[in-house]
Amino acid sequence: MFQIIHFVPLFIILVSFPSCFSSSQEVSLSSNLDSKPIFKSLIQYENGKLTRLVQVGVSSSAPKMVNVDDFGAKGDGTDDSEAFKKAWKKACSSKRGVLVVPRNRIYHLKPITFSGPCKSALTMKIYGTIKASSHPSDYEKDRRHWIIFDNLQNFVVEGGGTINGNGRIWWENSCKIDKSLPCQDAPTAITFYESSNLRVANLRIKNSQKMHLTFQKCINVQALNLIVTAPEKSPNTDGIHVTGTQNIQIMNSLIRTGDDCISIVSGSKNVKVMDITCGPGHGISIGSLGAGNSEAQVSNVLVNRVRLSGTTNGVRIKTWQGGSGYAKNIIFQNVVMHNVSNPIIIDQNYCDQTKPCPEQASAVQVNNVVYKNIKGTSDSEVAIKFDCGKSFPCEAIVLQDINLIREEGGNAKASCANIYLSSRGRVSPHCP
Ligand SMILES: *[C@@H]1O[C@H](CO)[C@@H](O)[C@H](O)[C@H]1NC(C)=O
Repeated sequence: MFQIIHFVPLFIILVSFPSCFSSSQEVSLSSNLDSKPIFKSLIQYENGKLTRLVQVGVSSSAPKMVNVDDFGAKGDGTDDSEAFKKAWKKACSSKRGVLVVPRNRIYHLKPITFSGPCKSALTMKIYGTIKASSHPSDYEKDRRHWIIFDNLQNFVVEGGGTINGNGRIWWENSCKIDKSLPCQDAPTAITFYESSNLRVANLRIKNSQKMHLTFQKCINVQALNLIVTAPEKSPNTDGIHVTGTQNIQIMNSLIRTGDDCISIVSGSKNVKVMDITCGPGHGISIGSLGAGNSEAQVSNVLVNRVRLSGTTNGVRIKTWQGGSGYAKNIIFQNVVMHNVSNPIIIDQNYCDQTKPCPEQASAVQVNNVVYKNIKGTSDSEVAIKFDCGKSFPCEAIVLQDINLIREEGGNAKASCANIYLSSRGRVSPHCP
């Protein structure tokens, strides 16, 4: 059913990048928006980064293999955190270290931070399974993170193994599931923090306590060939969350969770999302932005070749009343929707709290957003919803070749408030 996932060897992927991206993307982007210099930088970063990644993979000295089992990891249900810490220390201080997590075992980890900088480029090969401690008391020091990769340069994690957040206990105790409980933090399964030149590939990430995979303040990232899964009813289990990160490509992945498939928030720039299958979940989201009167900046986002099925939103931009800053230069194209509620939505009245969010004078400005070749079915009657702010309308929004109908048959509708919109090609439904 999800033929999109191919575990293509890295070699082929690297070799094929320059040809398929720089040619095809450049054509479609420049034909669309050749007046916008911003989109050219999106292409340039890609070529620059690919060159660097290729260089990482080519080195003369032999890799230094470091197996967690040699440092006391058992994979027998007891805690393996100390063994992983020791093995990490060894691999990180070696020239061309490769940290190996063997297959056919389940290693249990408490919250753990893998810190750099390391001596040189480092690879972590996860062949087996890493599973989170399910005792909330283990997370007393920091309830917001399980595995952190911090301050790493030229780091690769791959191997075909599984990272399991073991999140059930956190979901059961979430205030979103049990309204009588106080709202508390839960851990993000994997966080990359302040790191650069990263590749995260060929992994299964599942049942995270909260978000699955977060890139925070990172530069030059490839995340590809990932399978990210959690139950539809698991709260806040975003698939991939991008915050304060520049030059990131998320590609060729299947993401079915209880919250956003991919969420892109403030400080993120040059973000490419390609060949992704989402659903169930909440769809692909830019935002939320501007919560608590904060300033947010997101720019140069390309979402291309995405399939969404049974999600509560399709492609969404969401901002709170009272924020400032912008979400601009965004393309959503070649998107297929199947039974999606709110397939295309800009929501400038986003309010994810019990208290109402009254209208305020300032807003995160939404500017220059292209929706192109988006087809499929909507679970809701309103397939296109542009709910923009009065004081800062959405500007330079383009709809091109849109065909969304109702899942149960019949015409869908568009609802459009405070927006400067232009249409090209056939657009259905269109604004009244
Ligand atoms: C469409 O989605 C709705 C709500 O998630 C669900 O109730 C319905 O069964 C789905 N229809 C189809 C045909 O999948």
